[in-house]
Amino acid sequence: MKMGATLEAITKLKEEGLARAIGVCNFNLLMIRHAVEDIGAPIAVHQVEYHPFLSQTPMLDYLRGKGIPMTAYAPLAQGRAAQDPVLARIGEKHSATAAQIAIAWLLDQEQVIAIPKAARPSSQRANLDALNIRLDDHDRAAIAALPKNLRYVDPPFAPNWEAATS
Ligand SMILES: NC(=O)c1ccc[n+]([C@@H]2O[C@H](COP(=O)([O-])OP(=O)(O)OC[C@H]3O[C@@H](n4cnc5c(N)ncnc54)[C@H](OP(=O)(O)O)[C@@H]3O)[C@@H](O)[C@H]2O)c1
Repeated sequence: MKMGATLEAITKLKEEGLARAIGVCNFNLLMIRHAVEDIGAPIAVHQVEYHPFLSQTPMLDYLRGKGIPMTAYAPLAQGRAAQDPVLARIGEKHSATAAQIAIAWLLDQEQVIAIPKAARPSSQRANLDALNIRLDDHDRAAIAALPKNLRYVDPPFAPNWEAATS
């Protein structure tokens, strides 16, 4: 792995006050462990794809153990969550939309941050309002039963996402 020199250079920028914090994204478990444990980089946050249709349990367990928050990118599965019937049904109970339930589910989890992209002002407002939704155990169980292997951001240069997860 050749990330050492880069992370060391970025760490130096932080030490010199030129960077407030260091975040990384799209690291697999091997990479984040290497960055944190071998290189000792002060990682403030790790950004990965995370939504109701993709599990990030091993990554979350690791990051929580290190006190590093996880940012969920594509938290609406790039808009697909808005059409999901299970999320919509949960939404009816809370007078909310399926997209809002997806965001509420992410924010319900310890050390998870979500960054939905919304161009429409109505979506922006709805996503902020999702902060007020409180899911219950029935809702969480229904979302847990959704498929968890749907990854939508997977370019050819992506790392092996499953490395060291089993
Ligand atoms: N680090 C990385 O490799 C990486 C990779 C992918 C994405 N990201 C970042 O993650 C962020 C979000 O990802 P994303 O844009 O790919 O996917 P996303 O946030 O999951 O989905 C965006 C789509 O959802 C729609 N949407 C937003 N709020 C909605 C609502 N309340 N109801 C219905 N539809 C709603 C948006 O429509 P409108 O815009 O029309 O409202 C847009 O079509 C971005 O900042 C992106 O840069 C990072």
